[in-house]
Amino acid sequence: MKIVLTAHADEAADLVAREILDALGDKPDLVLGLATGSTPIGVYQRLCDAVARGEASFARVRTFNLDEYLDLPAEHPRSYRTFMREHLFEGIDIPPGNVAFPPSEGGDLEARCGAYEERIREAGGIDIQLLGIGRNGHIGFNEPTSSLRSRTRIKTLTARTLEDNARFYADGESQPVLAATMGIGTILDARRILLQAIGAKKADAVRAMVEGPVSSFFPASMLQVHPLVTAFLDPEAASLLTMRDYYDETRRQELRLREERRL
Ligand code: GLP
Repeated sequence: MKIVLTAHADEAADLVAREILDALGDKPDLVLGLATGSTPIGVYQRLCDAVARGEASFARVRTFNLDEYLDLPAEHPRSYRTFMREHLFEGIDIPPGNVAFPPSEGGDLEARCGAYEERIREAGGIDIQLLGIGRNGHIGFNEPTSSLRSRTRIKTLTARTLEDNARFYADGESQPVLAATMGIGTILDARRILLQAIGAKKADAVRAMVEGPVSSFFPASMLQVHPLVTAFLDPEAASLLTMRDYYDETRRQELRLREERRL
């Protein structure tokens, strides 16, 4: 896993947005895997700004979101479809038919989760998957003990995840306990993975993901087996890593080789 220690959250968002915009420059029909939560908002803002300045177009891009709460209607203020509309889709020129979410309403969910996987395959697979991380190590909504090769399916959320996400719900408002999510196997099929972690409350999770053992009890640790994962961390999220000097040195060496045009 490549670790990028940034000076602050804004630098992490700048770097991730730059990676996506560069990839879009090379491949206008890029296939993106998208995440929700507070972490990617800065990246989405930068993508909207690039489109507003006329520097990028998402007209041929296709997107697949990681997850969605079960039984929240698309228009519900807390649905991930609303989140994505407000934070990204309304600010870029992507055709509505090019965005997809795992099935979260109606019946036949298993078959439709399989169809979601098929739709990703038909699109040619995900080029870049954006990720955040939950404090218990979840990626998407793959909670601890998720199968390490799982595919898109319905998951029950842990008490800790419900507690972490309770801030988005008003007192007394009911919070969904089920969600449809890409599996860990689905996420690992992406060609590249860009993960961001921001803030001290993610420090334990970042340490377990980067320096801990691979375990279904900490799903993000499975990213260690993927060949092209970059984790962009702010100083607080990186504070418990034991090899910070090494990660900095690694980045310096890579930048040097790039400057010399040897990479
Ligand atoms: C949610 C989402 C994840 C996200 C995580 C962290 O539960 N399903 O995709 O990465 O929580 O959220 P935040 O970025 O708000 O810390």
